Order: sequence, then structure tokens, then C-alpha cells
Amino acid sequence: MIFTVTSHATSANIGPGFDCMGICLNKANIMSFAYRPQGIIVDGVTSLAKNESHLVVQSFYYGLDKLGAKRPAGFEINMDSQVPISRGMGSSACCIGGGLAFAYLHAKGKLDKDKIFEWATEMEGHPDNVGPNVYGGALLCYNGSKGYEAIRFHIDRKFRFIAMIPDFKLSTKAARAALPEAYTREETVFNMSHAALLIKAFERGDSRLLREAMQDKLHQQYRAPMITGYKTAVDIAIKAGAVGTYISGAGPCIMAVADSPSVFPRIRSLLNKQLNGWQADAMRLSHEGLKATISESGAKSTPLKNGNDTRK
Ligand code: HSE
Repeated sequence: MIFTVTSHATSANIGPGFDCMGICLNKANIMSFAYRPQGIIVDGVTSLAKNESHLVVQSFYYGLDKLGAKRPAGFEINMDSQVPISRGMGSSACCIGGGLAFAYLHAKGKLDKDKIFEWATEMEGHPDNVGPNVYGGALLCYNGSKGYEAIRFHIDRKFRFIAMIPDFKLSTKAARAALPEAYTREETVFNMSHAALLIKAFERGDSRLLREAMQDKLHQQYRAPMITGYKTAVDIAIKAGAVGTYISGAGPCIMAVADSPSVFPRIRSLLNKQLNGWQADAMRLSHEGLKATISESGAKSTPLKNGNDTRK
């Protein structure tokens, strides 16, 4: 029996939507899980953590404990990783979503996305990061009366996302430690109004409104100094015709939002000339979320009904 899970990159915050908005991107880690008589192998990983200490395995165990299921004696996880680590593109959400999906597949033979979202949020702490990985699409997450919830909003198809990715990492812990403990009333109202505007601008496909909306007073000004080249990258994106930019997740990736396909090659060319070690990657919103298939070794795989999804 082999389980294969597609676990997507995410881009959280989207400017004023700090800690509550995020999107699923069309870049993913494809992970497969196969049983072995004994021993644990995690292969194809680019992080230092190997085997049992790897976040995918830790998340697998977390899910098994929640489900009251026994750990298998041996297994092998292979990862084909496209999502860069510690760049603000949801690499930890990818691992957690993948590990919890394997736990469900092992114990129940199917996924329950609502439970995976709940447990992934417990593990990772940021629903705006894990929510889009689990459900796909653009999500607004909120702490409701029964815990964290997520609801989709629409992004007009004309908008595309261009990730500007530096060659250095930034830990989420360090990027959160840079934030103040409290905000003024003026800052709070600024972000509330701009976050609401952001959703209207995306829904309507209104670039002028989106340019206004992508402002933030809660996190970007504190994180920007930790990103060497931040101002140059933002200037490049605007010069190339982007509608706006935001720090993706906790950074250091800077995401440019564009309403025309001509912006990506211009950003790529300017980045190549002006910012050593930075890369541009053209991305689209993905509606897929976690996706799983089960196959007998060597046989044709069967796509699974991907569990309940109440986020429509
Ligand atoms: N909203 C989170 C942050 C995303 O900005 O710290 C990172 O997981």
C-alpha cells in the first residue's frame, strides 16, 4: 500500500491580513508513504532533520495520537520538494499537512480536512498558513466560538502572484519576536479597514483598490529590516508594473501581485541585474489543497474523495 499526498505552498498575511488571510499556491511537495517491516526512512528532504525528527514524521505521530492509532513498525516517506524552506512560503505547513494526512490515511483510509485543519493549527499556531494548505484557495481565518474556522474569498483570475525569493532564510520565531506586543487604536483601525478593502478589491478584480488595500501597520515595517534587499525588491516590483507587494508569511519572500502577464519577466530581469541571489517565481492561486491517492504497490492509484470540506 502506498499513500501519495500533494501538499501545497502557501502565502500568508497578504499585507493587512496579518495572521488571518492566506492563499494556496500552485507549488507543492509531493510525498509518498510506504510501509516497511521495520525502521523509519525519510528520503528526498532538503532540511537537516532526518527520519523520526522530521516534521512530517512528528506530524504523522501527532495525528496518530489524536486518532488513537498505533504507530506502524516501519515506514518510508519520500519527498519531492518544490517548496523552499524558511522563506515564508508555508514549508512547515506543507510538512504538517502531509504528516497529518498520512495519519488519517493510515488509520481511516481517507482524509478529514476539518480535523486536519484543527490539528495543524494546534501544531503550527497560524491558521492563515495551514488553512490554505489544507483547503486550497484564498482563506480568511478567524477564531470563532468553536475554535479556529476558515472561509473562502474570491480572487479575480486576472491577479497573479510573483514570489521574489532571496537565498537566505528567516525563522518565523525571529520574525515574530520583532513585533510589538500592542498596537494603537489608529493602527488597529487602519489594518481592519485595509483588510476588508483587500477582500473587496480581490473579488472585484479592481487593481486601483488593491493598490490602496495592500498596506499594513502590524508587521511589515518591523520585519522589513530583517530582509536585506527589501526596499530594492519592492522598488523593482513596482517599477515592473506590479499592483503591490507584501511580505509573504513571516518572510523573507516578498510577493508581488500583478494584473498582467508582462510583469513577471520584467521582475525577473530586474532582480537578476540588481539583487544577487534573489529569484523570481511566477505562481497562481491553487484551489486544490491537500490531495491524496492510495495505490497498491505498482498498481494504478485511486484518487480519494478528499474528505469533508465545509469551507465553500
Ligand atoms: N501569520 C504568520 C506570521 C504566518 O506572519 O507570523 C507565518 O506562519
